[in-house]
Amino acid sequence: MGGINVIELEIVADHESASARVAGCIVEQVRREPASVLGLATGGTPERTYELLVEKVRAGHLSFSQATTFNLDEYVGLQPAHPQSYHAYMRSRLFGEADFDSKRTHLPDGTADDLAKAGEQYEALIADAGGIDLQLLGLGANGHIGFNEPGATEDSRTRVVDLTEETIAANARFFEARDDVPRRALTMGIATILEAREIVLIATGESKAEAVERAVRGPVASQMPASFLQQHPNVTFVLDEAAASLLGSRA
Ligand code: GLP
Repeated sequence: MGGINVIELEIVADHESASARVAGCIVEQVRREPASVLGLATGGTPERTYELLVEKVRAGHLSFSQATTFNLDEYVGLQPAHPQSYHAYMRSRLFGEADFDSKRTHLPDGTADDLAKAGEQYEALIADAGGIDLQLLGLGANGHIGFNEPGATEDSRTRVVDLTEETIAANARFFEARDDVPRRALTMGIATILEAREIVLIATGESKAEAVERAVRGPVASQMPASFLQQHPNVTFVLDEAAASLLGSRA
């Protein structure tokens, strides 16, 4: 059984066009409401989107000075200074390159002594900010969103999760050795993500095609965490032709 809402699809030619489209959604949101609360993602896919946003700010066409941000996830045990931490990713690609107020950029604290409490505090911070206006998502080849791996439940909140071997293998390309990839992460939950007022997911490349097809057309199921997005009233998937390639036959 599918969800009640149809996921809106925007299919463009390539990764560059998808990045431009997603950057455009963020620009539009922040121009409309400079004090927007943005949910942000990491991974290889949104890197170009962030470059485009930095270009806009540098050209004087956009300001993030009043925006608040919450990232989806962080590895457990990596210090913010660790080059492969998501803190470092965000600093080098976006926060340190544009006019963000560092008091208003947030990531889960994967180094906290009490990770469960850190998760609860993160949820409280999001609530205090008034909730997320626009949440950007990537997509794992196994259907994960944030680090909500297969098996994640609809009511999940920010918490510690074990990464699957598939995700560890996929993310090993960012580390010197596969053994260096942390095995756990602190991630927003499915319920946290579904509370965002608007969601934009970007997926590009053939390796995402199967997950895209199952997320959009498959049953809503824990085994495909992105399928829970079918239950949200305002979701857009921005896809390149390769990532959308399995949708055609059943469209
Ligand atoms: C990572 C992140 C996700 C990301 C996904 C896809 O592990 N935790 O937020 O969306 O996996 O990554 P990529 O864009 O590199 O394919």
